[in-house]
Amino acid sequence: MYLYYELRVMEDILLKMSPHTKAKHRILEYYLKAWFPILSKWNGRIVYFDGFAGPGKYDDDSFGSPIIALEVAKNHKLKLAEEIVFYFIEKDTRRAEFLKNLLDERYKYEKDDTYTKLPKNFKIHIENGDFNEVMSSILRDLEQEGANLAPSLAFVDPFGYSDINIKILGRILSFRKCELLITYMVGFLNRFAFDDKHRSSIRSSFLLSDEELNNIITIGNSEDREEEWLRLLSEKLIGSMKEYNSVGQDVYPLSFKTKDKSNRTMYYLVYFTRSKKGIGAMKEAMWKIGKSGNYTFSDYGFQPGQKSILDYSEEKPWIGLASQQLHKHFKGMEVELDAIKCYILLDTPLIFRKSILKELEKNGLIEVPDTRPKRYSYPEGVRIKFL
Ligand SMILES: C[S@@+](CC[C@H](N)C(=O)[O-])C[C@H]1O[C@@H](n2cnc3c(N)ncnc32)[C@H](O)[C@@H]1O
Repeated sequence: MYLYYELRVMEDILLKMSPHTKAKHRILEYYLKAWFPILSKWNGRIVYFDGFAGPGKYDDDSFGSPIIALEVAKNHKLKLAEEIVFYFIEKDTRRAEFLKNLLDERYKYEKDDTYTKLPKNFKIHIENGDFNEVMSSILRDLEQEGANLAPSLAFVDPFGYSDINIKILGRILSFRKCELLITYMVGFLNRFAFDDKHRSSIRSSFLLSDEELNNIITIGNSEDREEEWLRLLSEKLIGSMKEYNSVGQDVYPLSFKTKDKSNRTMYYLVYFTRSKKGIGAMKEAMWKIGKSGNYTFSDYGFQPGQKSILDYSEEKPWIGLASQQLHKHFKGMEVELDAIKCYILLDTPLIFRKSILKELEKNGLIEVPDTRPKRYSYPEGVRIKFL
């Protein structure tokens, strides 16, 4: 039983849950289920940075991102990497303390020094500090040792935009197997870019010139303006990454929009990776949560009684449209299945499903050689002719 005073303090420490936060957590969870095994295959050590970790709990008792990540890794059926390092960075001392107690309570027996209820290969660091300072110090140490950052995912989930530091994010992304998932507060940026009080902090966070900021506020259509914010984030981040690693392979961005109760844009979750497997896994995660394949989740119209945010992800309606798009692109060509998958993955917002090919075959729009085991099957390596 808590005293009234204690409840008030807790209210302040715990974060407020909302449908769009749940959607964000589901994307993170789905993605991590794929990410841990993808990277574990190749590497001795992998690192998960939760840069704005929070207290680990919400006012409705649901868990925050640190616990979500630990539980996904702990419950994974596959054997994961030799060592999984978790950095939970939280600036607010009370929240960092709350998180520490929560982890102790969940994963330690009373007198243990370590988290004995977690696998031995988990190494956990709770850092009570500023994300950019903690990351700078980790990166500086690596540089001094001439070492590489192990394959990592950094989840960067601030309340606003002012804690974003493009130089540090670019530095993280410059390591070959490192990825970013950023909460990008486009709603705030759209509003504050017009306000002289905020312009200099926006410019310094995102390395924007006055001219770039002025250009953006002259864009009348809000969707176009959001597109421009997204384009600028990619441009600045990749520019900053190239200062450290000019030969890096292409980086693929992917974004997911969330809207508030009034259906206004709040933020985009933006993911950056070099890995095709990574982009495939994140697309699947975002697709599941997004409404009918448009990579958006809105609190508007979300019914509290609705069983699951997955109610939105019906497959049928988009298969016909996807098959038309595929046919238009490949008409007259004969291509391997892999080229089709690659096109869908990197050049369209769609995800690959065999039912897209089945639809085309039923309509007589593709031909597949007779050598396959059964009709409407599309084995790896098969060549498909678009009529
Ligand atoms: C949106 S919440 C994070 C929620 C958490 N990632 C989750 O999904 O459960 C942002 C958190 O970042 C913390 N924070 C604010 N500024 C920070 C900074 N510069 N460095 C690290 N943490 C910060 C806040 O105290 C807050 O707990």
